[in-house]
Amino acid sequence: MSDDKCLHICTPLLESVPMSKKTGFKVFIKCDNLQPTGSFKIRGIGNVCQKAMKKGGHHVITSSVGNSGISLAYAAKQLGITATIVIPEVTSESVADNMRELKANVIRHGKVWDHANVYATQIAKEKEGSIYVHPFDNPGIWEGYATVIKEVKDQVQQKPDVVLTCVGGGGLLCGVIEGLQSVGWTDVPVIAMETRGADSYNQAVNAGKLVTLPDITSLAKCLGALTLCQKSLDWGKLHPIHSVVVADKQAIQACRSFLDDHRMLVELACGAALAAIYEDVIPKLQKDGKLKDNIESAVVIVCGGAAMTLQALLDYKNIVGIK
Ligand SMILES: Cc1ncc(COP(=O)(O)O)c(C=O)c1O
Repeated sequence: MSDDKCLHICTPLLESVPMSKKTGFKVFIKCDNLQPTGSFKIRGIGNVCQKAMKKGGHHVITSSVGNSGISLAYAAKQLGITATIVIPEVTSESVADNMRELKANVIRHGKVWDHANVYATQIAKEKEGSIYVHPFDNPGIWEGYATVIKEVKDQVQQKPDVVLTCVGGGGLLCGVIEGLQSVGWTDVPVIAMETRGADSYNQAVNAGKLVTLPDITSLAKCLGALTLCQKSLDWGKLHPIHSVVVADKQAIQACRSFLDDHRMLVELACGAALAAIYEDVIPKLQKDGKLKDNIESAVVIVCGGAAMTLQALLDYKNIVGIK
């Protein structure tokens, strides 16, 4: 990976006392919510933008519900190139403003990410010197995300027994597994968390092939790719992965508990991963014989998310009827 100019930071890995108490084993949180862009995305997007510049690109284009776009805008500004981001209808105006504040050109197109993405690829072809950046089906993105595990390797005393993450288009999952493979942790299982209504990975695993969802009905819009990348499905043949789906309500409650426990506010996408701890997913997998009994430590990738506010969390709670 290029180390010309590192646009991401090495984030803290903290033992979560409340989560360790709840589970009975050590739970470490990898705080990628503390990246300058509020999410892990800068690791992959930063890497790809540097590569684009090396190829002579002076303009980068992506499609995004939020976090990839914010990271692309940030990376482009840092590198002194320009950025265009195509966002779908589901993206809030305040998130679009975050991108504009970073000097990006923002275009709204289509209902969900997949529609915005088709448009982004079209405009990238028309504009000379432009490089299209796929936000999750992209080896440069996976290479960048793999750094999260390389850091964990340097930060822990012993190999974790399990890694917990969430899945949208599958880029983060691919990066986490690429990282585990590269540090020699090839037997460390990954629990891949999704919310119902954005569960393209779970449906693909069950079908044994990629599945295109008819719509994204989950409130976790950042997990909302209608079809995930083939590579994330392929990894299942080489690396132990357990796919688990939670309800929006559980992801919302996990965000709320995480806020109370750690004083940090994260997006529902991240809440899906955190729900693995708060909703006792590990004991359930152990009971089903899918995970070993003697778990001593787990790492949760706190992927972050820039679109969450306290008001948004309260609104989500109202929508699903949590008091
Ligand atoms: C905060 C957050 N977490 C997780 C994801 C899922 O990442 P991926 O699409 O690489 O699976 C996203 C995607 O936008 C995101 O914004």
